[in-house]
Amino acid sequence: MFSFSKKDQVTGEVAERQLDEQNIPAHIAIIMDGNGRWAQQRHLPRIAGHKQGMNTVKTVAKAASHLGVKVLTLYAFSTENWKRPTAEVNYLMKLPVDFFGTFVPDLIKNNIRVKVMGYTDQLPAATQKAVRDAIADTADCTGMVLNFALNYGGRAEIVTAVQKLAQQVQAGTLTPDEIDDAAIDQQLMTQDLGELRDPDLLIRTSGEERLSNFMLWQVAYSEFVFTQQHWPDFDQTALEEAIYEYQQRHRRYGGLAPEPTTK
Ligand code: IPE
Ligand code: IPE
Ligand code: MG
Repeated sequence: MFSFSKKDQVTGEVAERQLDEQNIPAHIAIIMDGNGRWAQQRHLPRIAGHKQGMNTVKTVAKAASHLGVKVLTLYAFSTENWKRPTAEVNYLMKLPVDFFGTFVPDLIKNNIRVKVMGYTDQLPAATQKAVRDAIADTADCTGMVLNFALNYGGRAEIVTAVQKLAQQVQAGTLTPDEIDDAAIDQQLMTQDLGELRDPDLLIRTSGEERLSNFMLWQVAYSEFVFTQQHWPDFDQTALEEAIYEYQQRHRRYGGLAPEPTTK
């Protein structure tokens, strides 16, 4: 049993909670939102929020790995984030260089393997190199997969998948009736995660309750948890809280809840 204490923000009461070790979500995906607002509240430039957010990634990656999570997918940059001011985009593109430059030894120590999904060929050369090196340096790690969605968009991912399937049909290697869920899964950027491709739990920080083009296909049956904290304030306790909430849910996948067991 993992236990953690949660302090009620209003009453100040501390409650002891226990997590069921047998029911840790295997794949957690997080929409890390609120860096800009976190900074603005402190009268700091938005990039200060991104910098602090990077430290949260380190904390949360280690915490998830210790809890036994198998895949942690983090939405770091969307295909729509290019719309932001150039200075902010440039800073966000530099972050992976700083992040991996300082964190890879810790990742290896924690047996965490880095994976990146997204249109990485459109990233600046230095960012691409940082990503490539981190993937290579952690290739032998057998523990949690830390999967960054970088220049990722759910619709673009589906468009690319459809194009690939259409090409196979045109080449005569696939017939339209052979296109099923599995065929589409095979063309998505989560393909190499195998059975772990679909998130069990999706968390979004900072109070927004939307997907913002994240993993549209894969979240079909994910449990959603929305938290008020901005990403730089998210921590191990917040992660445990979200998992606790997940453990109170009944996943039915369109079927019926199991009958309550009677003695
Ligand atoms: C999330 O924080 C980080 C990225 C989207 C890159 P935001 O930068 O979106 O922060 P807010 O939503 O403006 O507060
Ligand atoms: C989603 O956050 C993208 C990432 C967290 C990387 P945004 O801040 O870009 O989403 P919107 O614009 O509020 O929908
Ligand atoms: Mg945002």
